[in-house]
Amino acid sequence: MNHADRMNEEQPGGKRGEMIVVCGAKGGIGKTALAVNLAVALTKKNIQISVMDGDFQFGDVALALDLHPTFSIKDIVADIDSMDRFALAGFLIHHNSGVKVLAAPERPEFADMIKANIIDRVCDLLLSQQDYLIVDTGAGLPENTLQFIEKADQIFVVTTLEMTAIKNTKLMLDTLDVLGYRNKTHLVINRATMESVIKAADVPDILGFDTSIYIPNEFHLVAQSLNIGIPFVSNQAKSDLAKAVFKMAEQLISRREISLFKPKQNSFIKQLFHRGGHL
Ligand SMILES: Nc1ncnc2c1ncn2[C@@H]1O[C@H](COP(=O)(O)OP(=O)(O)O)[C@@H](O)[C@H]1O
Ligand SMILES: [Mg+2]
Repeated sequence: MNHADRMNEEQPGGKRGEMIVVCGAKGGIGKTALAVNLAVALTKKNIQISVMDGDFQFGDVALALDLHPTFSIKDIVADIDSMDRFALAGFLIHHNSGVKVLAAPERPEFADMIKANIIDRVCDLLLSQQDYLIVDTGAGLPENTLQFIEKADQIFVVTTLEMTAIKNTKLMLDTLDVLGYRNKTHLVINRATMESVIKAADVPDILGFDTSIYIPNEFHLVAQSLNIGIPFVSNQAKSDLAKAVFKMAEQLISRREISLFKPKQNSFIKQLFHRGGHL
């Protein structure tokens, strides 16, 4: 069985995929750029990915991928009770990379229509049919982001080197700590090569992490990518920026393989007993 087949096997309980949440204390620090590029990077591994735009007020995942959504999560609200994964598939917007996007409502005033039960059901349905669900979020910890975080298998907290970003990231991480999510939280230092008083190498220590993912500062590439709606991992695949995101994707996959295929803790003991029974 090859890697992709194993990743495609449904897990017990109807859940197949892993849910990744990209969040951060501030706006404008690269959450959307990283979420969409990570998604497209993962498709190169023959893995099924969907992206949910969890910034229900000002989501711009569709814009970042040059998609013109005909449907958004708002259109699911009325049919939620009868929704199954086949019906949900009709609301996803297909990007040419293979990524399927569930867009945010087209206007900020519709955000309140997306209640907790909708989020819960939609995430579960997407996870039952995709290998990864990547959720891009708005700034900070509004209620819907907290719900995503609670459901997530892995949380990427994005920061830059700016003082205000570090200070607010620290507060956000403290909150995630108190809520008990630290063991699924990873730090991403975006624009890590930016000139700054705070050095990228010191940030993990400042924020209480052993390691971090480092994404270089490539303003032109990122701004152009978001503006024209072409992910930089597609048209600038050889850049250091894209390489950093590919590395992030590799780490995700290997971490997941370890957790999926790690033998259960007691399996060796079970085996011993089983063998013992035949002796
Ligand atoms: N790695 C990077 N290097 C340089 N500039 C970046 C980088 N990542 C993001 N940016 C800049 O930050 C802006 C905001 O990015 P975006 O992904 O929309 O942030 P957010 O989703 O956190 O609000 C981009 O338009 C780009 O100018
Ligand atoms: Mg954003």
